[in-house]
Amino acid sequence: MSAVPSDQRLNAPSWVRNKKLVAWVAQIARLTQPDRVQWCDGSQEEYDRLCAEMVSAGTLKRLNPAKRPNSFLAWSDPSDVARVEDRTYICTPSKEEAGPTNNWMDPAAMRGTLNGLFAGSMRGRTMYVVPFSMGPLGSHIAHIGVELSDSPYVVVNMRMMTRMGRAVCDVLGEQGEFVPCVHSVGKPLAAGEKDVPWPCNPTKYIVHFPQTREIWSYGSGYGGNALLGKKCFALRIASYMGRDQGWLAEHMLILGVTSPEGKKYHVAAAFPSACGKTNFAMLIPPPALNGWKVSTVGEDIAWIKPGRDGRLYAINPEAGCFGVAPGTSEKTNFNAMAMLHKNVIFTNVALTDDGDVWWEGMGPAPAHLIDWQGKDWTPDDGQAGRKAAHPNARFTVAASQCPSIDPDWENPQGVPIDAFVFGGRRSTTVPLITEARTWTEGVYMAATMGSETTAAQAGAQGVLRRDPFAMLPFCGYNMAEHFAHWLELGEKLAAGGASLPKIFCVNWFRTDENGKFVWPGFSENMRVLAWMVERIKGGTSGAEHAVGVTPRYEDLNWTGLDFTRDQFARVTAVNADEWRKELDSHADLFKQLSHNLPPQLESTRQTLAQRFS
Ligand code: OXD
Ligand code: MN
Repeated sequence: MSAVPSDQRLNAPSWVRNKKLVAWVAQIARLTQPDRVQWCDGSQEEYDRLCAEMVSAGTLKRLNPAKRPNSFLAWSDPSDVARVEDRTYICTPSKEEAGPTNNWMDPAAMRGTLNGLFAGSMRGRTMYVVPFSMGPLGSHIAHIGVELSDSPYVVVNMRMMTRMGRAVCDVLGEQGEFVPCVHSVGKPLAAGEKDVPWPCNPTKYIVHFPQTREIWSYGSGYGGNALLGKKCFALRIASYMGRDQGWLAEHMLILGVTSPEGKKYHVAAAFPSACGKTNFAMLIPPPALNGWKVSTVGEDIAWIKPGRDGRLYAINPEAGCFGVAPGTSEKTNFNAMAMLHKNVIFTNVALTDDGDVWWEGMGPAPAHLIDWQGKDWTPDDGQAGRKAAHPNARFTVAASQCPSIDPDWENPQGVPIDAFVFGGRRSTTVPLITEARTWTEGVYMAATMGSETTAAQAGAQGVLRRDPFAMLPFCGYNMAEHFAHWLELGEKLAAGGASLPKIFCVNWFRTDENGKFVWPGFSENMRVLAWMVERIKGGTSGAEHAVGVTPRYEDLNWTGLDFTRDQFARVTAVNADEWRKELDSHADLFKQLSHNLPPQLESTRQTLAQRFS
């Protein structure tokens, strides 16, 4: 069999009318030399067929249909379990343009490396053509990408995570623009060679060329490394496009919050990993506050554009959730558990004896499991510290299965944003909730946000890592210029007469002298959200302090929760010694980001420092 399809063997169906797309597919096929090319139409039949093929190949296990209808479990290679930030590159013409928080390589040098890696990399495999839309089809905020991948696991995940297939080509038409994304697991098969369940390569490259809006990913089949619509396109490439075109691509959930009087507001919130972002996006108010309602527009990424009325409108560019399973339970996130009853692809969780799934934090462990590496596991192994599910085990599921999904989640116009929230995991220093007094102060809060590392991340625990805008691994250009972009957008909107969204900073994670969390978190965060809404309405008051405005004890609704004044003081205290250190540490961050850092940030830092002197 010839490994190089001639253009006639591209098999482009009649519904593909974009000549540029066909020519590019031919070019990549000549480079990567797959045995065949398959254009994905996004149909249920195609999804079912690919899943059945992967079951035969050992990549997927079909779960017990009586327990999890139409659901599958994949176990990855143990070397391919998470995003590889140290192998992720932003290839701009100059290093300064990528900035000090990104790995950079000269674009021409990188192209040479990639050409070598991708030459013949799909031999013996099928190259799938996956047209996808980030955002509702045809929305003026949405953009189209096409991923070429030799992984059927990627195809079925992309079908849930994006709007994928023939309908996208209809929108693309003859002349439409798309972001080209090339993905190979980097494991060509020789004639007659038997495949492995999870092909990958120890050499990995996740590469972005922001100027030409290209993505090339080699060597990994896992999550954000391989599902290129998510972090690669919707954050890294899109943040660069947004800076050029006057909009924002942010690592933010979007939620709707409806007050007891029936008025609806929308909040976009940025949190680094391991801060309960999915839980906040799907929050169920506590019974005593059941006049309030929270609905989910998105749980990871927001694309935000100014509307004609000068307000900011956000869409969720994704169509599914690729959520972390461990720690998810009916107690921590009832809605997430409810969306996982059927039509789910689980990756790297444990398999129960009755063909269902289990992970740490889901509930009591069964007496026996097969762990994510295919080995027997009992609770004794758990006691000895061996996890049944990988800490970064995931579920992939359509967002439409979320019980709290917002009726407007697919509104092509987006939803108007009333507030931005920035949060991190801080055991000290940062109050439960602070409102920025100005847009600049809010941008300062976002720029300096940080989070303490947890067991979910490699390396030492409890180390403070600055994660500006929760975009540290996701900003496709110089982070300092991202701050400038926010400041400029705010100025432009204000100059047009718009009232800007409020900006809040939250911290659910202050601890006491025994290291225990003081704030109960989870559904009780509704009390904080309710205060934000009151502030948006111009109602409830708070107390101004050195770093912003925080509610007094009497400003929050405590019905149904036993939380004392003393406990509240612990989670809201602004300690001058801690803040002097904090502001010094912000100075270190600004030194690191000094290239094109907007001067307003250092002057805000100095104003805050004066308040503590
Ligand atoms: C994610 C992440 O997977 O932020 O969403 O790491
Ligand atoms: Mn994320």
